[in-house]
Amino acid sequence: MAKESLIRESTVERVRSAKNVFALTGAGVSAESGVPTFRGGGGATVWKGMPFDVISSAQMVERDLAAVWEWFDYRRGVLRELKPNAAHTTLAEWEEKFNDFTLATQNIDGLHAAAGLKDVLELHGTIWQARCLACDRSKSLRDERGGEQPQRPPVCGTCGGEMRPDVVLFGEMLPANVLERAAEAAERCDVCFVIGTSGVVYPAAGLAEIAKRAGAYVIEINPERTALSDLCDETIKGQAGEILPRFQI
Ligand code: OAD
Repeated sequence: MAKESLIRESTVERVRSAKNVFALTGAGVSAESGVPTFRGGGGATVWKGMPFDVISSAQMVERDLAAVWEWFDYRRGVLRELKPNAAHTTLAEWEEKFNDFTLATQNIDGLHAAAGLKDVLELHGTIWQARCLACDRSKSLRDERGGEQPQRPPVCGTCGGEMRPDVVLFGEMLPANVLERAAEAAERCDVCFVIGTSGVVYPAAGLAEIAKRAGAYVIEINPERTALSDLCDETIKGQAGEILPRFQI
């Protein structure tokens, strides 16, 4: 089977006639909006001398919550200025056009929702929310303005406990209900898209494996080969914001 091709007419037809479509997205889907990816391009993100998977870890919340806030505040500051790109808007349109369309993202940036996608399965949580370490209540960080320094860590309005970013860190479980819904959608889809992810972080990457095992046709969109490329039926090499609109669903 030919891999790493341009988009074939047969692939376009297969996608257009699909009833159930599942998409797994990663950092690459936001790259064209200006969000840096973690891996890819031969490097990995380092922040203040720390690899991203150290600063984004469960241990770090216990050891140095202030540093964790600093890292996510920095990222939120970058994101505040950024807009969804053509990949996000195309995927939001697909929600309306397909009979059954489910999108699960590893991204915490909120750009799928900003593009108008109504039901986004955020496997790794969201950078736009804080969660209380004591009572689990969450609160939005959307209203915090850049410029003035907000209280860090934020204090829970309900119990007065310290809050943390409401994201899934290395060493933590994914929200069970979100993962379950994603796995069900992967299981029942006819076509599975794997877009802009290096496919090395589990259980998210395992969703593509579930889809493949259940008989779906799996299409990867990525400028580079990834850990999931061999599993995929085809890899369309390129940028998500250029490739996705070309399906013209
Ligand atoms: P990575 O940074 O690991 O991978 C990004 C992928 O996007 C790479 O394979 C790039 O080649 C590809 N890419 C770059 N630009 C692209 C474009 N314009 N269109 C399509 N693809 C493009 O990001 P993820 O796979 O999302 O988890 O990383 C998975 C998880 O690791 C993240 O959710 C995060 C991180 O640590 C947590 O923080 C828990």
